[in-house]
Amino acid sequence: MKRHDDLILSPASGDDCKDLWVWRNNPLIRINFFDTECVGWEEHKKWFNSNIANPNTRIYIAKQGTKKTGVIRFEIKDNCTQVSVNLNPDYLGKGLGAKIIEQGSERFISETKNVKPIIAEIKKNNIASQKAFAKAGFAFIKEDDTRVIYQKIRGK
Ligand SMILES: CC(C)(COP(=O)(O)OP(=O)(O)OC[C@H]1O[C@@H](n2cnc3c(N)ncnc32)[C@H](O)[C@@H]1OP(=O)(O)O)[C@@H](O)C(=O)NCCC(=O)NCCS
Repeated sequence: MKRHDDLILSPASGDDCKDLWVWRNNPLIRINFFDTECVGWEEHKKWFNSNIANPNTRIYIAKQGTKKTGVIRFEIKDNCTQVSVNLNPDYLGKGLGAKIIEQGSERFISETKNVKPIIAEIKKNNIASQKAFAKAGFAFIKEDDTRVIYQKIRGK
């Protein structure tokens, strides 16, 4: 398995809007979203711009060399922070997801005061995501018929 030591995260900017839209609509990616429908360009732009402007949302883009390889997003809510991750579909299945989650969580924690519990809400059949979060220092908390909740373990 590749070590992905060359992974660098940086805050998302306007340049990343289209990449995220293309990745989000890829069938291999959107099958794992709770809403599996394609998102239109105008709707996506609105979503992206409001996220970038929102102080309670942090989006980091992962790069390896000149290639954008994934994205991780943190949304601070009243009682917790929700995290979601998504790869450039060309980089699926290489163990990169866990690295982005690990590095992204460290970065988010280091840049945030009074961090609330970091929670990932994952579709029950999305085993790759559950394994990636577990590898990145998250623990299984609970599940229902459709979703599984993982939470970042403190200090891990
Ligand atoms: C979730 C995601 C980030 C995982 O990243 P990844 O680097 O592609 O993950 P991998 O394919 O390397 O799989 C991670 C682990 O799950 C295992 N795995 C993958 N699919 C599996 C399956 N169907 N059954 C059992 N194990 C599986 C892999 O073998 C790997 O195991 P290992 O760590 O022991 O080697 C990536 O798949 C993704 O972006 N998916 C689309 C969006 C998404 O699902 N986001 C998460 C929403 S919270």
